[in-house]
Amino acid sequence: MTTRKRKQIILAAYVGGVNEHTLWEHPQAGSQIAFDTFRHVAQTAERGRFDYFFLAEGLALRERAGRVFEHDIAGRPDTLPVLAALAAVTEHIGLVGTLNSTFNEPYELARQLASLDHLSGGRAGWNVVTSWDAFTGQNFRRGGFLPREQRYARAEEFVRTVRELWDSWAGDALAADKQSGRFLRDASAGVFAHHGDQFDIEGRFTVPRSPQGHPVIVQAGVSPQGRDFAAANSDLIFSPYSRLPEARDFYDDIKKRAVAHGRHPDDIKIVPGAGFVLGDSREDAEERAAHIREQQLSDRAVLVQFEQLWNRDLSAYDLDGPLPDVDPDPEAPPIIQGRAFIHQDRFETVRQWRALAEAKGLSIRGLAAEVSTREQFVGTPEQVADALDAFVQADGADGVVIGGHHTPHGLDEFVEKVVPLLQERGSLRSEYEGTTLRENLGLPVPARRPAHADLAATA
Ligand SMILES: Cc1cc2nc3c(=O)[nH]c(=O)nc-3n(C[C@H](O)[C@H](O)[C@H](O)COP(=O)(O)O)c2cc1C
Repeated sequence: MTTRKRKQIILAAYVGGVNEHTLWEHPQAGSQIAFDTFRHVAQTAERGRFDYFFLAEGLALRERAGRVFEHDIAGRPDTLPVLAALAAVTEHIGLVGTLNSTFNEPYELARQLASLDHLSGGRAGWNVVTSWDAFTGQNFRRGGFLPREQRYARAEEFVRTVRELWDSWAGDALAADKQSGRFLRDASAGVFAHHGDQFDIEGRFTVPRSPQGHPVIVQAGVSPQGRDFAAANSDLIFSPYSRLPEARDFYDDIKKRAVAHGRHPDDIKIVPGAGFVLGDSREDAEERAAHIREQQLSDRAVLVQFEQLWNRDLSAYDLDGPLPDVDPDPEAPPIIQGRAFIHQDRFETVRQWRALAEAKGLSIRGLAAEVSTREQFVGTPEQVADALDAFVQADGADGVVIGGHHTPHGLDEFVEKVVPLLQERGSLRSEYEGTTLRENLGLPVPARRPAHADLAATA
């Protein structure tokens, strides 16, 4: 009988900016914008031998019925300058940024990401998101936006184009020979031409091949198109599923789709968001978790969660009473703006929520706690290490993106108390294996495919 090798847990750390998990009102919470905040989290995660530091992206202040919701005003500076600054104060940890394929241009992003890969010595990653909503779009695209059905078509061609740009320089294109004065070995370095439905560009790419060739590609989005896009194109998925058995279903589905796209199942890793709460005993941890949960499930956070699904003003309902007795209203103008929406079918989700509330006797608030998508690992450090390890070894995922419920010190106790236990049991590295993010994740380096060898030959 063959025994399977213990999987190494992938760990990523995030700084929450605008979500209900991060409590900016917490007495120990610091700035969401000051560089010291980012530096502290990234360096703490690096001390814990995490794979990468991760930033989500919010391109519009989220609103409810035209007013910013309070738990969203903590702020969110632009991703790339933060990661570039972190490259200078860290050595090993990957730096992964969420960057939209709907509101950017391939040349621009390819250049920025290749630059980050150079600056960090091969630690850059790109979480491709497709936010399509008109509300966010008003800030971009000269007031326009992309219809929902076109966003993955653009994302797919976007990533393909970016890869072509990254591939436009051979690894040895630079001679930089001071004796002969010969700068380029390959006179056609950077020459590209992309003529497609979404982009029609040609010219020269300015950044020589970066240490990883292709920075690591991550995807977040759960529709069938999103899953196929990820299975074909990405190295990692930032998933919203961190509870068994739905996490397992997602995991199996993605790995199957990857194989259908001619890839090895291990070439794509699945890393959902998760939280943790530690205590001296299980009871102590559960008590702390309940207290934190209470703060996270404030009236306004619960209301927003339900109103987003129902697309109705539900403020007249008692949050400690039964679920709204009305149906969702998908046709009305959106009441909640600028928040990722992961339910494919509102009516079906409402049906499931109602059944769950009835089976468990839950109020609106109780159900909000039940269906919130982020798993909490709660217990003593040993119990948390056990549960997290068991989740990964059971193929619920390949790792987790983890953050404390307040920033910047929320991750400290995980690194001090849980990380050593994971290392002892052989589920987490004690030292970084390689120098690049790809090496540390065990991900293959994509072969260079110059799309326009013919152009290169004649340039
Ligand atoms: C776990 C997760 C995280 C996401 N993070 C972001 C984000 O940081 N910024 C953003 O603009 N969109 C984010 N999205 C939105 C997706 O990119 C996408 O637009 C949305 O999920 C709809 O696509 P889908 O129908 O394939 O799920 C996220 C989605 C998921 C599921």
